[in-house]
Amino acid sequence: MLTIDIGTMRNLLLILCAIALSTAELQEDTQPRKFPDGFLFGSATSAYQIEGAWNVDGKSESIWDHITHRIPCVLSNCDTGDVAANSYYLYKRDVEMMRELGLDFYRFSISWTRILPTGFPDKINEAGKNYYNNLIDEMLKYNITPMVTLYHGDLPQKLQQIGGWTNPEVSNWFSDYARVAFELFGDRVKYWFTINEPKETCNQDFATGFKDLSGIADYLCAKHVLVAHGKAYEIYNNEFRASQNGNVGIVLSAMWYEPESDKDIEAAEDAAMFEWGQFIHPIFSETGDFPNIMKERIANRSAEQGFPSSRLPKFSPEEVALVKGSADFCGLNHYYTFITYRNESINGLYESPSYHDDMNVITYTPNDWKNTESASTNVPWGFYKLLTKIRNDYGNPPTYITENGFDSMADGIVDDNRVSYYKSYLNAMLDAISEGSDIRLYTAWSLMDNFEWGTGYKSKYGLYEVNYTSGKFERVPRKSAYFYRNVLKTRVLDINFEPDMSVPICEEN
Ligand SMILES: *[C@@H]1O[C@H](CO)[C@@H](O)[C@H](O)[C@H]1NC(C)=O
Ligand SMILES: *[C@@H]1O[C@H](CO)[C@@H](O)[C@H](O)[C@H]1NC(C)=O
Repeated sequence: MLTIDIGTMRNLLLILCAIALSTAELQEDTQPRKFPDGFLFGSATSAYQIEGAWNVDGKSESIWDHITHRIPCVLSNCDTGDVAANSYYLYKRDVEMMRELGLDFYRFSISWTRILPTGFPDKINEAGKNYYNNLIDEMLKYNITPMVTLYHGDLPQKLQQIGGWTNPEVSNWFSDYARVAFELFGDRVKYWFTINEPKETCNQDFATGFKDLSGIADYLCAKHVLVAHGKAYEIYNNEFRASQNGNVGIVLSAMWYEPESDKDIEAAEDAAMFEWGQFIHPIFSETGDFPNIMKERIANRSAEQGFPSSRLPKFSPEEVALVKGSADFCGLNHYYTFITYRNESINGLYESPSYHDDMNVITYTPNDWKNTESASTNVPWGFYKLLTKIRNDYGNPPTYITENGFDSMADGIVDDNRVSYYKSYLNAMLDAISEGSDIRLYTAWSLMDNFEWGTGYKSKYGLYEVNYTSGKFERVPRKSAYFYRNVLKTRVLDINFEPDMSVPICEEN
């Protein structure tokens, strides 16, 4: 996707100057910075990515079990989540790591098929219920707040067979499952995330196969995810809020789209509206519904393409009302910034119809941002701009950073690049907070290395390294674990802090 011609070189240079500037600012600002009182720190994982035990104790098949088994070697290195980090058996060690780091909270997800093997609430799997009860109780024993994601990529395969997220009934299947989880765990769980990363669920998740019907299936999925979320929120309000008094929201992945030049401001805005406005606008804007640019563009293109109506499904007025305001906070996962532009070279670039053809922008990562060990780029000003835009455009909602982190293909526990990433992103977040962004918590992805979907085990995000070859899945703290631990202990960001890895990490010292 990297297409740099002479004309864009100048713009690139301007961008590089901007980066140099922001780096300089970061370096000048070497005073330790305090986090606000009451600010919470945690770390996150998800069920399929760490639990393993894919067919143990009555758990049924999810779409990820299915796809990794049905097509051998579909992923790099033939990886599957069959065993993953073995957390189904090692959850006590996981809680010990949370104590070593001094986490305020831990965000994990419940596997739908471990709780409801048929996909429906006709039968609750006792062993699955016990597993999550044990995990939650172990955390509470040490004052670590459980924060629970209900859906993190692992739809029951049985529901996929009848259309999954493209079937309008899925909003009832999901909200019925949500009710079971509120009933089982809501006495102790006060933070709920309905659905993790709807954009990736609908557009990127090849376990659903929606990629083959882009421009149709992804939009059906988007609508149904939003209605499912709205129904789960309504169920919590009507049946549980009075007795359980918790917080319920959704987790959106939101990248920053930086215009390549002044003539690309509209292209960058379009990218933001398609990529995350698609989900944030229906919930957090004053009007609700999909962003206008999506409604207009997709309607126009559908007409040109000979469709009798827009490929973007409509919300009924009742559905608009159900979804609008259906969140106690805005959960954001942030990883990347992309340079964005639109010019004639876009004609014929994307298959038509498709989501990318509708969005109609080109994005890329400049070579200078890249490094050899990682797909991550260290662009903290993109994070700052994203947080500022959300504050300005969506009424400064209470915001939870539900994921942020650095992936690496490199082995070992001396992860200086990850430490620098955390330093600069926490610093950028503090800049946004100091200008008024209502950010309440920060979550490092991830507590430990895990199954990273399409890249399997090659891509590592862990504060703890997991040993997959010894057969014991030992967790070893990386330098970044020492760094994060110091932030949590001091409640201060000190970019000059150098962890001393010769001292064993443990709760006491
Ligand atoms: C859609 O088509 C109408 C009528 O041709 C035009 O005015 C409008 O600008 C188009 N909108 C988009 C987003 O392409
Ligand atoms: C995993 O454990 C084995 C056996 O103890 C050891 O030889 C190996 O170096 C470890 N690998 C990592 C990545 O720590």
